[in-house]
Amino acid sequence: MNKLTIYGIIFTVVLMGGTLLVTGGDIGGDIVNLLSLLGALALLVISIFVVLKYVRQMQYDTATGELAEGNWDGIGEYKNELPFGWAIIFLGLNIWAIWYWLFGYPVNAYSQIGEYNAEVTAKNAAFESTYAGMTDSDYVDMGQSIFIVQCAPCHGLKADGMDGKAANLNSRLAKETVAHMIKNGGNNLKTDFPGGMPGGMLSDPAQIDAVADYVAGGFKSGHAGAQFYAMGGCNGCHGDNGAGFAGVGPNIASFDVPTVTSVLKDGKKGHIGAMPKFDNLTEIQTKAVASYIASLSK
Ligand code: HEC
Ligand code: HEC
Repeated sequence: MNKLTIYGIIFTVVLMGGTLLVTGGDIGGDIVNLLSLLGALALLVISIFVVLKYVRQMQYDTATGELAEGNWDGIGEYKNELPFGWAIIFLGLNIWAIWYWLFGYPVNAYSQIGEYNAEVTAKNAAFESTYAGMTDSDYVDMGQSIFIVQCAPCHGLKADGMDGKAANLNSRLAKETVAHMIKNGGNNLKTDFPGGMPGGMLSDPAQIDAVADYVAGGFKSGHAGAQFYAMGGCNGCHGDNGAGFAGVGPNIASFDVPTVTSVLKDGKKGHIGAMPKFDNLTEIQTKAVASYIASLSK
């Protein structure tokens, strides 16, 4: 018998012996054990003898056919026909690829992003119709719950700005905020006030201080800052009483819905720090939280 065949038999016996040892030799007791062992034996015999067949073929077989002209370091190549099955698979794959591009995924089929967008649109529409027809006080109530989740981490539960970490929203403006704005100007609220506000319209520190006190103090008549407010041209954009003009200058006398909405659209950087924009809120949510802020200082 051929040496390789003997090795194969020895290998089979060793593996089967090992399997018997691991299973504890309990063949007779359980028909499932017996069948599994027979299956293992069949697999082993088939695999080992298939491997042996090819090893022997590599050892002894010689190829026949017409050699191609070139050879590479003595290694030649036969001119073989393209195998029929291979050619069929190649053509089939080409046809399938064209189908895949034109009709299958991704051009023409299910899209996860599409499904997500459709769901968001549907949810927003359901939200809009559920909360259509709210009264002003409903808006304030909804705004309070949004405020607690989205804004309180920086502005504090009482919206007092947590010791200067963010703006105090219980009164419109702190004196330092006004003074900072006069000195530096700003163009945070680009969407609603594209022109921005130029800095340096007043430069005398005493005048700046007086105007800041006048604005932060609520535009009291007879205040010394009133004349500098007019002198600096502030009334041109913010109006005599600070109520502002749409598209020109925001309301600096009190928080109203348009002013807060504009802060939410663009965010704000100032002398306290930076506030991110909140453009992920829906229109109703924005109006709600803005109504809540406006209600605080009333
Ligand atoms: C050319 C128009 C214009 C003039 C003049 C102007 N402002 Fe403004 N002001 C604006 C705009 C626009 C903003 C919003 C700034 C932004 O987008 O950051 C603003 C913002 C402010 C703010 C900040 C509001 C906030 O929420 O922080 C204050 C305070 C202010 N102005 C006070 C003044 C004073 C005081 C003067 C006069 C010295 C003045 N403004 C002159 C257009 C103007
Ligand atoms: C990451 C912290 C942070 C969060 C969250 C935050 N803010 Fe602010 N907010 C600030 C800071 C800081 C300022 C002051 C910016 C400045 O002028 O220096 C500010 C300023 C403001 C102003 C402008 C006040 C002014 O001077 O005109 C409004 C209005 C406001 N926030 C409302 C909100 C609302 C409503 C929310 C929730 C939807 C919110 N903020 C969430 C940090 C935050």
